[in-house]
Amino acid sequence: MEVRDVTTADLDAVLDDRSRAFGPLSAEGARTWRELVSPMLPEGRYLGAFEGPRLVGAARINPYLQWWHGRPLSMGGVASVTVSPEDRGRGVGRALTEAAVERCAALGHVVSALYPATTPLYRSVGYEHAGGMTRITLPAEALRTLGGPRGSGGQDGSGVSGGHGGAARPRRAGPGDAAELVAVIGGVYAATRASGPLCYDERTWRLWLADEDDYCYLAGDGYVLYRWSDGDIEVHHLVAGSEATARALWSLVGSASSVAKSVHACVDPADPVLWLLRERSDDDVTVRRWMLRLIDLPAAVAGRGFPAGVSMETVVEVTDRRRPANSGAWTLSVAGGSGSVTPARTPPGRGPGTGQGEATRLTIGGVSALFAGVPTATLRRSGRLTGGSPDADDALDAAFGCAAYMIDLF
Ligand SMILES: CC(C)(COP(=O)(O)OP(=O)(O)OC[C@H]1O[C@@H](n2cnc3c(N)ncnc32)[C@H](O)[C@@H]1OP(=O)(O)O)[C@@H](O)C(=O)NCCC(=O)NCCS
Repeated sequence: MEVRDVTTADLDAVLDDRSRAFGPLSAEGARTWRELVSPMLPEGRYLGAFEGPRLVGAARINPYLQWWHGRPLSMGGVASVTVSPEDRGRGVGRALTEAAVERCAALGHVVSALYPATTPLYRSVGYEHAGGMTRITLPAEALRTLGGPRGSGGQDGSGVSGGHGGAARPRRAGPGDAAELVAVIGGVYAATRASGPLCYDERTWRLWLADEDDYCYLAGDGYVLYRWSDGDIEVHHLVAGSEATARALWSLVGSASSVAKSVHACVDPADPVLWLLRERSDDDVTVRRWMLRLIDLPAAVAGRGFPAGVSMETVVEVTDRRRPANSGAWTLSVAGGSGSVTPARTPPGRGPGTGQGEATRLTIGGVSALFAGVPTATLRRSGRLTGGSPDADDALDAAFGCAAYMIDLF
């Protein structure tokens, strides 16, 4: 078996494999799929596993930016890993995933994420569960009234805000607005110090914004992308950088309440809408899990944002069998909102009593999960973090702690 780049001539076989794996696409879906993936082929973003001329599996690497404490990192989104049914269980999936990790590195991605249909395959290649995509169902009528009765004061009587005051009236957006949309998304994720969400490149945005079933509205510091679905509203994205824009966009969606009973939305679990709603008790949510793998540990830490109030330094020892450049003892430092890892000067393995605290030891999956805010107490009790000390754990949690989320499934 050989893993090599997929070419245009292979696309029919890749699509056939994809259908056998996930179910068939409609004719229009297949057209959009070809439009989406064709420009990726010359970029080396579609890998195929072949036995002779026969395609036995494939995997794609989508180009994304992913925000970590407000700073964008180059992220390879591994998607559509498929193996022909008759070729499963022989190591093809693992070979493809290993090749995808190496290709992420070659493409300059410093982290990689994926939504696993099964965990062991990806865990064995260094990915670990890192965050979730939360889909919530909200009553449309409750959203409608978030805009307030024609510009009156806020619901808490403070008069601080409410109505659409302060927010530009949302305007319709189309493919020509891709660049502005990308800028708005980056601005909001930076300002809110978001961890986990991603943004497509302009090329992909133009394609999505051309879909006539989706409605997109842009506000100065936010946007919404939604469609009708079985008589309800499905919000793909709603991102708002201020209360006024959150109210304007959610109430625009809720204005469908005379027809739609419910609004389903993929949101940050700390999305402001959940604090704007007048009533909230049981959340009606489902969560899809995603996994993260650090591809280039020093670059990922250097590119990530950190809380400005945290200043720490500790030694971590990382093992990464598949990407040895990540392995070894590193001095991890965080100060002034930025971090770095540099090779530790003193050799690893010192124990208590040597005057040098024992280094915190992490698998590549462990350090990837830590990077995404999974608490050290969880990593320690699941065998992904050993050594170190309670003080070092506290420092690591203070630096990396976050509730990583995405609002995109890929
Ligand atoms: C999931 C899929 C890609 C796996 O491909 P594969 O070639 O059969 O996988 P491999 O033979 O390389 O197996 C690698 C490891 O994953 C495990 N694995 C594979 N499929 C699994 C499954 N469905 N459930 C649990 N573990 C699974 C294997 O047991 C093996 O682990 P082991 O070495 O510890 O035993 C393939 O079954 C497929 O195409 N499924 C349909 C589409 C899909 O789910 N894609 C994944 C999208 S994220």
